[in-house]
Amino acid sequence: MTINDYRIDFPILNPQNNEKRIIYLDSACQSLRPRQVIEAMDRYYTQYPACSGRSNHQLAANVTRLVDDARQQMSKLLGASRVEEIIFTRNTTEGINLVANALDFNPGDIVLIGGKEHNSNLIPWQMLVKRRGIQLKILHSHADGSFDLSAFELALSEGVKLVSFGYTSNLDGVTLPVEQIIKLAHKKGALVLLDAAQAAPQRKINVRALDIDFLALSGHKILGPSGTGVLYGKYKLLDGMNPFMVGGDTVASSTYETCEFLPVPEKYEAGLQDYAGIIGLGAAARYLQSVGFDAIQKQEFLLNKIMTEGTNDIQGLHLIGPADPALRGGIFTFYVDGIDSHRIALMLDQMANICVRSGQHCVHSWFNAKGIKGSVRASTYFYNTQEEIELFVENLKKIRKVL
Ligand code: ALA
Repeated sequence: MTINDYRIDFPILNPQNNEKRIIYLDSACQSLRPRQVIEAMDRYYTQYPACSGRSNHQLAANVTRLVDDARQQMSKLLGASRVEEIIFTRNTTEGINLVANALDFNPGDIVLIGGKEHNSNLIPWQMLVKRRGIQLKILHSHADGSFDLSAFELALSEGVKLVSFGYTSNLDGVTLPVEQIIKLAHKKGALVLLDAAQAAPQRKINVRALDIDFLALSGHKILGPSGTGVLYGKYKLLDGMNPFMVGGDTVASSTYETCEFLPVPEKYEAGLQDYAGIIGLGAAARYLQSVGFDAIQKQEFLLNKIMTEGTNDIQGLHLIGPADPALRGGIFTFYVDGIDSHRIALMLDQMANICVRSGQHCVHSWFNAKGIKGSVRASTYFYNTQEEIELFVENLKKIRKVL
């Protein structure tokens, strides 16, 4: 398969629809979706727009079967031991909130997070500081954004209850040495939660082999519908926790005073679910596996190398993260002295239909600590071409000349 074979699956990239020649470099925010995902969702709404696991009629039976299949697909993608370990959520944020609110935290418990976490992996813990009196500790990276293993070992010696890190950073693309992190954390009795929002689109994750306790991801970054996600948790841990959100379809029975919760995963999936989204997510997992992570990483590296080398003579451009593109996956984040990052993004859009993200990328804490106002982030995926990246570099140079 070539890049063009994949591109025709993505309606917005298909030459028949892409008259404007949109260049989409914002896949770290949301990936594009192939027609296989869109068609799977369409079939739900047009052929069996019913509930899963509740009604007994034929339409509902179809939905139940397809939701079960989506759970199987996600379980296979992540290498879970049991399909019940896959809980459908709306996004990574919801997965992290679920753990923060369902795990039993006591005053004084330490939660350790990184220094460049997305707000989704910062604010839920800040709330627990207020509500339950936990201690939130921050582990800063080296100056180039890479993980500080010795500082981590030192931090663990203080008796940490939970380590919660972004597996791959949405800011600079750095991926953590999770194998070592998990081994060290477990040795000291700490649980590990990984925010895999940016890692899941680009690498094979085997939760069982890595011995991950909890992992949250978003469907909309892995070719799936927006507003879908998964929380993986070890069965024993999920079974032992009380659900965070409760109500419809989380209980087997109730009286006016009591209730009997359903087993995992039902007890965590409260209320009527986004069945079209879940079915679309199953189709996305299938598509992703058919592309393969080797091909994804190869293309991301090739494109990031072109961007990095092509822009290194732009005066006043500062790259965020390690200089080596091989350490930044599909992410290229930078700022230019004296030029507002939103202005650069707008000009790229207006001049050449190049879509990038500008600002602080939900990592305000890092920008505020560093005193940096904002940045531009170009993020690629396997469907981007060398030609698109060359146009990005060319237009960035033009902008630098006029501003
Ligand atoms: N977390 C997403 C991003 O980095 C929204 O763009």
